[in-house]
Amino acid sequence: MSVIPLRKGGPAARIAVIPGDGVGKEVTPEAVKVIRAALAHTKRPIEFVEFDWGADKFLREGVTLPEGAVEMLRDEFDAILFGALGDPRVPSNQHAADILLGLRFKLDLYVNARPVALLHERFTPLRDRSEEDVRFMVFRENTEGLYVGVGGFFKKGTADEIAVQEDVNSRKGVERIIRYAFEYARANGLKRVCMSDKSNAMTFAHDLWQRVFREVRQQYADIESRHLYIDTLAMEIVRDPRQFDVIVTCNLFGDIISDLGAQLAGGLGLAPSGNIHPGKTSLFEPVHGSAPNIAGTGIANPLGSILASAMMLDFLGMKAEGESLRGAVHSSIREGFVTSDLGGGRKTSEVGDWLAKKVAG
Ligand code: NAD
Ligand code: IPM
Ligand code: MN
Repeated sequence: MSVIPLRKGGPAARIAVIPGDGVGKEVTPEAVKVIRAALAHTKRPIEFVEFDWGADKFLREGVTLPEGAVEMLRDEFDAILFGALGDPRVPSNQHAADILLGLRFKLDLYVNARPVALLHERFTPLRDRSEEDVRFMVFRENTEGLYVGVGGFFKKGTADEIAVQEDVNSRKGVERIIRYAFEYARANGLKRVCMSDKSNAMTFAHDLWQRVFREVRQQYADIESRHLYIDTLAMEIVRDPRQFDVIVTCNLFGDIISDLGAQLAGGLGLAPSGNIHPGKTSLFEPVHGSAPNIAGTGIANPLGSILASAMMLDFLGMKAEGESLRGAVHSSIREGFVTSDLGGGRKTSEVGDWLAKKVAG
């Protein structure tokens, strides 16, 4: 499968756009709109190519991730702007596993960067907390752990049924995400890295995390490093989020902690993420899912997708443009031009239009 040959002297970047299902199809076009507006005056256009992978295609054609898709994305695109996958008509979630987890694994996007940043104190459910108090980065291991799909059923559907789901952790996989967290802290002037696991109960898989952490931390004496069990981390994040700069953890725990963090900063509608392999085609998406409970009503918050787009522009080396997207998001929040989840009355596309105008002007 090939869409367009590799660029030669063409656009600054080629982006594959995969809106997916539900509100993914509503917020992603707004993000594209705002990126286009931010780049309107530059001489570095971005080319977007949209793909209709998702539940509709799966139900219509039985296709999830088309053959050759991974190679095409790897060879012909710089980044992927992703919406969300999940549809009540596909209870197995097969298409999401094939497409989203498929891309994370097959493109080897081992860093799932999920920043938590309170943009206005009125958004946090915590008492007496301001913007500086809720600001940390979660690095979620993104290619291994309980997500790899190794396991099976025995005597399925009987009273004696057994279900097994293996937690797969490699030395290489654990080391590279822990190292990335330390490197990120150092590069960004952050002083504290917290590794979180459940090594008191998961005595094999997370023993490996413990040993690798102890080894790697020695090479970063300039960074204060600390370990917390995941249950304690969840409690401490709520009790006093100020104590965290960088958190690094496994795939499943990172999934959960990032939603907890998102809610402390205003909810899922605002939370962005990057699925990154440095130097390779990487994927950017809001943390939220397809939100079937509000899909089709035009009220989904597009800011998570737009902040993910800002992370994508940073990744592509377009820092000024990324900053302009973030600046516009801050303005919309300051002025209350936001969707109902943030206490405003604006529709998804109204917020997109407003931001597009802001970044263009
Ligand atoms: P969800 O994130 O879709 O929704 C959780 C809650 O947050 C809902 O109340 C929803 O209305 C709200 N919400 C989510 N995005 C919002 C937005 N942009 N603006 C305003 N409110 C928003 O999680 P869920 O309900 O547990 O899952 C629904 C489907 O999405 C499932 O199929 C799940 O597997 C899938 N999912 C996909 C991704 C992804 O593609 N990365 C992530 C999470 C969940
Ligand atoms: C996310 C989602 C996915 C995950 C699901 C849809 C498989 O919750 O991106 O956070 O658990 O990684
Ligand atoms: Mn999640």
